[in-house]
Amino acid sequence: MNILMIGDVCSTPGRTLLKEHLPSLVEEFEADFTVINGENLSGGRGITEKNAQEMLNLPVDAITLGNHAWDQIETEEFIDHYPQIVRPLNYPEPCPGRGIAYIEKCGKTVAVTNLIGDALMHGLIPCFYTMNNQYAEIAHNSDILLIDFHAEATAEKIAFGYFMEGKATAVVGTHTHVQTVDARILEGGTAYITDLGMTGTLNGVIGVRREIVINNSLTKINRRFKQEKSKPWQLNGVCIQVDDDTNRAVAIERIYRIYE
Ligand SMILES: [Fe+2]
Ligand SMILES: [Fe+2]
Repeated sequence: MNILMIGDVCSTPGRTLLKEHLPSLVEEFEADFTVINGENLSGGRGITEKNAQEMLNLPVDAITLGNHAWDQIETEEFIDHYPQIVRPLNYPEPCPGRGIAYIEKCGKTVAVTNLIGDALMHGLIPCFYTMNNQYAEIAHNSDILLIDFHAEATAEKIAFGYFMEGKATAVVGTHTHVQTVDARILEGGTAYITDLGMTGTLNGVIGVRREIVINNSLTKINRRFKQEKSKPWQLNGVCIQVDDDTNRAVAIERIYRIYE
């Protein structure tokens, strides 16, 4: 089984890139399953139902989120109707949506989850503790576990990768919007990368118009961010090859494409 995991899809450029190129990427990598991070789908801020549907009409099996999960008020209303949309697992119990999706594909049960890191992020239930408590049940109910670890600090992401080595089929980092070059297979067949990168414009500051970010930094006046939309655009992610007998990852390849 081949699994595509695509980094934070940002705004109109990100959605357009997936509409134009995801079907051919699926063909190129012979992908059976695709996960995208959708926390920035709608103007960089969260996910509207319209944009969720747009993505789910593509060969997208699951959408993970992150710290921008609730930026659109409507998300709280529709999220429960979409079993493919996964919000961070470490929100407290009354939070709407689900922290784990169990999706049947190619005769396997694929569990997809999403956690927000503790370091430099707003306080949720500690992520290692959350996974430690839930891992036995997830493992019991699934063949393959894919984790989108949405976090700021590289060391915390690496530690989480080791924490789940031999347990998860993949631990991929998201949130920084910058792809790291450390994709590898950890012991026990866990595919790992510190960050998938982003899918959207190349010349903004992680998706935002650069002049606003520079001016805010210079003047300390915090003007509202606007998304950069100019080309070139970038599509970032990985393809993970999973052994059908063991459900362990055997290879991970970085995808870093620039479109003029
Ligand atoms: Fe993001
Ligand atoms: Fe984020």
